[in-house]
Amino acid sequence: MEQVITQPSVRSQHLWWQNGVIYQIYPRSFQDSNGDGVGDLQGIISRLDYLQWLGVDCVWLSPIFSSPMADFGYDISDYQGIHPLFGTMEDFDELLGEVHNRGMKLLLDLVPNHTSDQHPWFLESRSSKDNPKRDWYIWHDGKADGGLPNNWLSVFGGHAWEWDEVTQQYYYHAFLKEQPDLNWRNPQVQEAMMNVMRFWLDKGIDGFRVDVMWHMIKDEQLRDNPPFPGSTFNPNDLIYDHYTPVYSTDQPEVHEIVRMMRAVTDEYDDRVLIGEIYLPIHKLVTYYGQDNNGAHLPFNFQLLTLPWDAPAIAMAIDEYEGALPAEGWPNWVLGNHDKPRISSRVGREQAKVAALLLLTLRGTPTIYYGDEIGMRDVAIPMNEIVDPQGLNMPDLNISRDPARTPMQWSGEINAGFSTHKPWLRLPFNSGRVNVEKQKGDMYSKLHFYRKLISLRKEHAALNVGSYRPVYADQQLISYVRESGNERFLIVLNLSHRPAYFKPRQESYSGTVILGTEIERIGMQVEDIITLGGDEGLLIGLS
Ligand code: GLC
Repeated sequence: MEQVITQPSVRSQHLWWQNGVIYQIYPRSFQDSNGDGVGDLQGIISRLDYLQWLGVDCVWLSPIFSSPMADFGYDISDYQGIHPLFGTMEDFDELLGEVHNRGMKLLLDLVPNHTSDQHPWFLESRSSKDNPKRDWYIWHDGKADGGLPNNWLSVFGGHAWEWDEVTQQYYYHAFLKEQPDLNWRNPQVQEAMMNVMRFWLDKGIDGFRVDVMWHMIKDEQLRDNPPFPGSTFNPNDLIYDHYTPVYSTDQPEVHEIVRMMRAVTDEYDDRVLIGEIYLPIHKLVTYYGQDNNGAHLPFNFQLLTLPWDAPAIAMAIDEYEGALPAEGWPNWVLGNHDKPRISSRVGREQAKVAALLLLTLRGTPTIYYGDEIGMRDVAIPMNEIVDPQGLNMPDLNISRDPARTPMQWSGEINAGFSTHKPWLRLPFNSGRVNVEKQKGDMYSKLHFYRKLISLRKEHAALNVGSYRPVYADQQLISYVRESGNERFLIVLNLSHRPAYFKPRQESYSGTVILGTEIERIGMQVEDIITLGGDEGLLIGLS
């Protein structure tokens, strides 16, 4: 028999979390199976076929663990228990099996920075000053004059120090007072959390998204944070953003902890460690670690935080590409449960352009559930707000509820999410904007996302190919992705007005493979390419 020598494809040299597309599920809002108005694990299982049809490779679940739900699961009282709202450990095992049966991966949320104040560790810690777990949290005396230990504020508003009457000390909480921060300088804390990781990795999950990774270690001397330069600073307004958290976050010692987490991840084959980190690019990339011994993917939130402005985005992409360490794999995020949805932030018209950007940039994309059908932030009346960030700072209109509303599946009651009134309301148009409707409409966002995901799978150039910026102006950004003899040009009009792609040095010609307007597919383009407002093109270069 003739011996066929196959070259390993470029793609097979990459790992699943480099090739794949990640899909974030906010479990409370994906699918309710037991009619209580809150999503659950059996609900997710019943929708896995949809995710497979969409073509995503990996599902990340926001926390599903035991929790008093002060911060909707980001306040954990048992890291190894499933909250009954979501189901049981058997349900979880079934979900993991079903995800794997479909050739997909499952990531869990690890929340190591803080626990719930109802976690047995904290109950012990607060019971007395000489309790063996006292040092598991950050306790401190007040200043000599009785004042707070320092000026640090909670991300959710107000002081970050809570007075404990029984033991006459303050404890630190970067978020709610119901979320005391663990003391990561304590080796027992480190060991306990590494064992939590092992518990889930032993079960066979494929990795973690680590909550607020850059918060984990604080300045040992607890120095005051300086006011944010130029802010209309008033020491009485207690707004987190009015200070620069240089001493309460992103401390040099955090990298040692990340390295430890990575080492545990590496005790298992083929797992991934992702970090939630909101920092400027030059600091973000340090979380890859020395010689890549840090997080595999420090989440890159540039597309979430920057204004939707062509020069700014073009610059951020290039800056990020340039700042990545040699072996660091890029990634891009367009939405999550903490930020306004992309369709609300950049507008309905730009949502497809944003999808084209997310799914053709070099690096692992993360899709937030519902963005694939263009779900928008839902207007939640004041008296229905449940998010603590919204409730604590009512004047700032920063509740995260609008981006956490139930998935819109169909025109059935409650959009097919639940037979019961959902925990957050649906928009008035959910009978029109839903998965079922869009499945039947080839022009829909859903089909656009699905097509993009499948093109990404089909073409190594789009998936793992090189990235080269080509041309940007006040309206457009464009770049080439290339691998072997495949070359694609992506041209995106981030404005509502027509625009002209006119690179100065080179001329490009090819065929439109996919466009925000389907009618463009198959058209030949050459030299100066004219784009309509809100138009994006994926062009196969000849
Ligand atoms: C992260 C989570 C957010 C949560 C916070 C505190 O930023 O994404 O939802 O409120 O951490 O755990």
